[in-house]
Amino acid sequence: MTGERPRSTGLFVTFEGGDGVGKTTQASLLQSWLTDAGRTVVRTREPGGSEVGLLIRDIVLHHRGEVSPRAEALLYAADRAHHIETVVRPALARGDVVIQDRYLDSSVAYQGAGRVLGRDEVRDLSLWAAEGLLPDVTVLLDLDPAAARARLDADDKPFDRLEAEKESFHARVRAEFLALAAAEPDRFLVLDAALPSSELAAAVRDRVAALLS
Ligand code: TMP
Repeated sequence: MTGERPRSTGLFVTFEGGDGVGKTTQASLLQSWLTDAGRTVVRTREPGGSEVGLLIRDIVLHHRGEVSPRAEALLYAADRAHHIETVVRPALARGDVVIQDRYLDSSVAYQGAGRVLGRDEVRDLSLWAAEGLLPDVTVLLDLDPAAARARLDADDKPFDRLEAEKESFHARVRAEFLALAAAEPDRFLVLDAALPSSELAAAVRDRVAALLS
């Protein structure tokens, strides 16, 4: 099992961070920049980047009753297995740039630390599901959970199952993301999500441009 691919294939960029930190905005800005530069971009997300994944997304985010922590971890892993095999790997093989909202680091942070299932077990499960595929770069948008919650409140949308978790859950998630980034400094670009959107976008572009050149 290995995450390595020949460098001539596409580029795999993931965005990570807590809920409400601005991942979708930054992913869109990067997509526009790359598209304007003539690159073919596949914009996707987990959970829910495939038809099967949309069904799984509905369960993990909107099921009203209990979902046991291990079942939740397996559902995210099932979404990942199908999505990587049917969407992401084919795109990378074509030479496209894949820009993805959330990937295996979210499982380690939310299920491993948030649900307290354990970092190594959850990471190994995801690596098995994705046959070892790791991103070329992971942008971590870091924000204090209270500030992120204020942004979600301002959105005025109902919270999903994970967003509705307590502050202590989101504090564990944030700490785990930062620990993951510290453990793999070459893969992660950690940015302070409180900075203006244009500054964040420029930092992301710089890193991606360096990888493409
Ligand atoms: P989002 O698409 O709005 O970011 O919502 C996805 C939610 O699912 C978010 O709260 C984080 C959570 N999540 C996990 O708990 N584990 C995972 O592996 C992934 C990809 C997401």
